[in-house]
This record gives sequence, structure tokens and C-alpha cells, in this order.
Amino acid sequence: MKILVTGGAGFIGTNFIYYELENYPDDNLVCVDKLTYAGNIDNLKKAQQHRNFKFIKADICDRKVMYELFEKEKFDVVINFAAESHVDRSIEGPEIFFQTNVMGTQVLLDACLKFGVSRFHQISTDEVYGDLPLERPDLFFTEQTPLNPSSPYSSSKASADLMVSAYHRTYGLPVTISRCSNNYGPFQHHEKLIPLIINNALENKKLPIYGKGINVRDWLYVEDHCKAVDLIVRNGKIGEIYNIGGHNEMRNIDIVRLICNQLDKSEELIEFVTDRKGHDLRYAIDPKKIHDELGWLPQTKFEDGIQKTIKWYLNIK
Ligand SMILES: NC(=O)c1ccc[n+]([C@@H]2O[C@H](COP(=O)([O-])OP(=O)(O)OC[C@H]3O[C@@H](n4cnc5c(N)ncnc54)[C@H](O)[C@@H]3O)[C@@H](O)[C@H]2O)c1
Repeated sequence: MKILVTGGAGFIGTNFIYYELENYPDDNLVCVDKLTYAGNIDNLKKAQQHRNFKFIKADICDRKVMYELFEKEKFDVVINFAAESHVDRSIEGPEIFFQTNVMGTQVLLDACLKFGVSRFHQISTDEVYGDLPLERPDLFFTEQTPLNPSSPYSSSKASADLMVSAYHRTYGLPVTISRCSNNYGPFQHHEKLIPLIINNALENKKLPIYGKGINVRDWLYVEDHCKAVDLIVRNGKIGEIYNIGGHNEMRNIDIVRLICNQLDKSEELIEFVTDRKGHDLRYAIDPKKIHDELGWLPQTKFEDGIQKTIKWYLNIK
């Protein structure tokens, strides 16, 4: 099988590439990445030694380049991780989010139609559902929850999802979509919460937290996300959406305290800063469908995953 992984020099894409190379060494993997500020080619150093891996620096929005690539490589499967992914940046400058996340996805969909693939898989996010109230812990996002995105980032991801579904319904393109909760683990860019807090704590710098730190996220170890995507791509039903999450809800403040504790740092480093505009309160996924249909369950407990993550960041220091 020949798989195109877009955005593979970023956090989750990198982890996915290593997961695939380890578990399916005979599959061919091609990674396309524009290497924006978020992409790091060094992440893929080891992968580049693998006989069945190839890296191509390119922009998914570049139709001509994408068409030439699809014509030459004849992919069986396309998995689209490429995106602008940072909510704060989307609030400062939404345009690139619409270009990459919506128009870029559309170029890939057109290329899939023109050259034929057996699967296009879109990596989406639970943020397309908006947020849940803090005082209703009984509520979860299911695949039927209406789209109600809050930020330019999440609205660009929701737009892409709608386009993917439309290409299935209108042109019969064989697609699947997955919507995952917050990931943590190795290779994440240092602007995101967990790496930021680990790095700042190691340097005894202030640990900034939005508002009162009471916003809740549903944290999943990145390898569990990769396993879920792999299962969906290989065994999931065409035309379906799958939510991915591990029932591991935590308040931001508790994550930061836990990291302080693990690194033996004072909680006095914590600094509450002006809240993010339109900050979503709570995300929580109901993963029943992927469990029932594909047998997926997260395997990494948060206590173990966060220790592995901290170790990884300590090793690259
Ligand atoms: N990180 C999370 O917690 C999380 C949770 C759910 C869903 N997601 C989704 O997963 C995907 C990957 O997220 P991530 O955290 O790894 O993001 P990331 O920002 O770490 O990586 C994105 C990658 O895409 C590349 N890229 C950006 N624009 C491109 C373009 N025009 N052409 C080609 N490559 C381009 C970047 O260079 C980078 O390598 C995104 O679609 C994101 O919406 C992320």
C-alpha cells in the first residue's frame, strides 16, 4: 500500500509516520510538508533512513505540484494531517487558516478524485463541536453533535470536514473523518500547553495559564490517536465520522500543577494571564462508536503518558 501523509513533519503526523513504519514496514510512505514554523524536518531524521519512506517539501495548496505528485506516485491512501493548528495564531491572523485548512484540503480532494484513491482520511478535531458547559459533566460530544465551532481555527476545520463529506456524497469519493481530543506526547511544538509548561518549568520561567485555569480538555496520548487513525483508515466504514478521545478530562491548572510536581518545581511559577478570546470551556469526547465498531480503546494512562512525555522533553534539552 502507498500512503501519502500530509503534515508529517508536525506533531501528530511525525508520530503517525513512526507508528506506520514500525507496524507496516512494507508499506510505502510519502510525507508532504511545507515545513512552516510548526514543521520540523529533524523530527523525521530516523524515518528518512527507512527504505520505504520519502519526504517531499511542498504546499498542499499548490494544485499543480499536488497533481504532478499524485500522477507520479499513484497513492492508495491519503491522510491529511497538514494544517495550521494553533488557536491563538488563528485569532491573530485567520487568513492562512482558511487557505491551508480549507483550500488545501480541497486541492487534495480534487487530486484524489482526478487520480483515484481507495481512501481519503481527514484528521479533524473535537473543536468543531464548540464547547460544553463546565457544570454539565454528563454531556459529551458524539458524532451527531451539531458543528458549532468557536475560533477561526475550529471553523476552518469544520469547513474542511463539510467539504470532505460533500465530496463523498456528491462524487462518491471514499472518505473517512476522525475528530480527536487534545493530544500530548513527543514532537509537539513548544508553543502548545504541555511542552510550553515543561520547557518553562525546566528553565524556572513563569508558567502562563489563561484565565483561572479551569478550562477542561480531554487529553489523549498521541500514540493512542495514531492507533485509532490507523484502524479507521484500514477498517473504518467509508463515509463515516469517528470521534477519538479517552475520557481523560483535566483542568488546565491541574495539568500545570502535575508537571510542577513531576519536575519538582514550585507552583509559585504559575502566572494567570488574560483569558483567550472566546475561550472554549470544556471538551469531552464520547468514543463509543470507535470502540464498538473498531474495538479501539486508549491504552496509555495519563500518569504514564505524561511521564514518558516529560522524559522525552528532558532528553532533547
Ligand atoms: N494537536 C492536537 O491536540 C490535535 C487534536 C485534534 C486534531 N488535531 C489535528 O491534527 C492535525 C495535526 O495537528 P498537529 O498538532 O500535529 O499540528 P502541527 O501544527 O504540529 O503540524 C502541522 C504540520 O502541517 C504542516 N503544514 C502546514 N501548512 C501546510 C501546507 N500548506 N502544506 C503542507 N504542509 C503544511 C506544518 O509544516 C506542520 O508540519 C491537524 O489537522 C489538527 O487540526 C490536532
